[in-house]
Amino acid sequence: MTRIFPALALALLALLPASSARRLQEHGGDGPISAPNAVIPGGDFRKDNAAAGNLTLLNNAPAGSPLVALNPAFWELVDPDAAVEVLAAKNYSFAHEAPVWLPETQQLFFVSNRLTDASGSPVVEQWLLGLDTGELRQLTPDPPILMANGGTPYGKRKVLVTSQDLNDTNGGLWLLDVATQKSKPVVNNWGGLPVNSPNDVAVHGPSGAILFADPAYGFAQGFRPAPLVGNWVWLFHPPTNTTAPVADGFVKPNGVAFSPDFSIAYVTDTGAVDGTGQPASFAAAAPAIYAFDVELDGSGLPTLQRRRLFGVCPSGIPDGIKLDERGNVYVGVPGGVDVFDPTGLTLGSFAVGPTANLALAGDTLVMMQEKKITAVQLRVKGARLPLQAAE
Ligand SMILES: *[C@@H]1O[C@H](CO)[C@@H](O)[C@H](O)[C@H]1NC(C)=O
Ligand SMILES: *[C@@H]1O[C@H](CO)[C@@H](O)[C@H](O)[C@H]1NC(C)=O
Ligand SMILES: *[C@@H]1O[C@H](CO)[C@@H](O)[C@H](O)[C@H]1NC(C)=O
Ligand SMILES: *[C@@H]1O[C@H](CO)[C@@H](O)[C@H](O)[C@H]1NC(C)=O
Repeated sequence: MTRIFPALALALLALLPASSARRLQEHGGDGPISAPNAVIPGGDFRKDNAAAGNLTLLNNAPAGSPLVALNPAFWELVDPDAAVEVLAAKNYSFAHEAPVWLPETQQLFFVSNRLTDASGSPVVEQWLLGLDTGELRQLTPDPPILMANGGTPYGKRKVLVTSQDLNDTNGGLWLLDVATQKSKPVVNNWGGLPVNSPNDVAVHGPSGAILFADPAYGFAQGFRPAPLVGNWVWLFHPPTNTTAPVADGFVKPNGVAFSPDFSIAYVTDTGAVDGTGQPASFAAAAPAIYAFDVELDGSGLPTLQRRRLFGVCPSGIPDGIKLDERGNVYVGVPGGVDVFDPTGLTLGSFAVGPTANLALAGDTLVMMQEKKITAVQLRVKGARLPLQAAE
């Protein structure tokens, strides 16, 4: 063996491009094979990170600026000197999810985190922010959309909103006219079974089909009965009234989005957080984004094919997900907003702190940071969503 092996190694080196062979030689033996954080001195790191479910200590902490480039291509998306500005702030978690940009009126629809009303029931507030005026207006949809969470535009002044349900009466997709505040249910069951707690929603432009993720967080958080269906991603097709699961295998599917050409669907899995208040467990689920090829079946409905792991978020669970016009992928994470290029290469991070979801309002990145909504000017625009301005 000792005689054959060096010969084989040399033969393999000869097959590699010159630069790869040089790198192998440079990094052989005691060369610098390990990144700075790959080995933590002392080895006593488990309690800090595993207990907190917090991967940030294992990665390069940002110094100074919240704009952290992990690849020079990040600066094609944002000016290194771009400032993070506060659009709105309150002293409680009023700014958590949805954010839906309505370009006609320059309004942002968004919802609060789970709050408690005067009678002790869980409640989620729904809001409109005027991006030009800074005016904040609380909405009271009629009939109510209970425990609202995700959203996507569905016409000039309309938003498809997910209801996570309360008391088994309300869960599903709702259509809300933000001008009149009138709402109506769009889908609330599968063959008579209630869905769990629909979380996020995206429209597939070519077919008009509606993709939504349905993690059982309402049950985990004590405001829904035990699930009767799985932690699935669903497709609802309005022209035929068809609802069917299109992807399983998630612990808690959460954010959903399509590439600008609708050829790829992205789904985040927040299963490391079980919803009961336990710290995140990366043994339960990787803090990962999954990608699928979108293919139309014989009746023109999208199917999600060739599931693959697209990206892993170093600071923890990826929640909301949006794409820019170039197909770059932005996800809300405990560290802020992580950005990947269309191949899954990590470009960098807006390290502003915990961000559940984001909107790309033209070339403004809007970040939902619980007690504040912040924004950064980008050098790129968001992907145009199918019904963002049409009626
Ligand atoms: C995660 O780590 C960061 C950086 O050390 C720390 O500021 C933060 O409090 C930690 N979060 C949790 C939930 O422990
Ligand atoms: C939060 O702000 C409101 C006024 O906007 C005030 O009435 C309330 O006392 C504040 N609560 C806390 C906990 O500071
Ligand atoms: C949900 O059910 C509880 C207990 O029956 C009740 O107190 C509460 O008012 C209900 N909430 C809604 C929004 O229906
Ligand atoms: C779909 O269902 C709704 C409500 O049940 C009904 O009003 C509508 O006519 C149905 N559409 C089709 C194409 O079946």
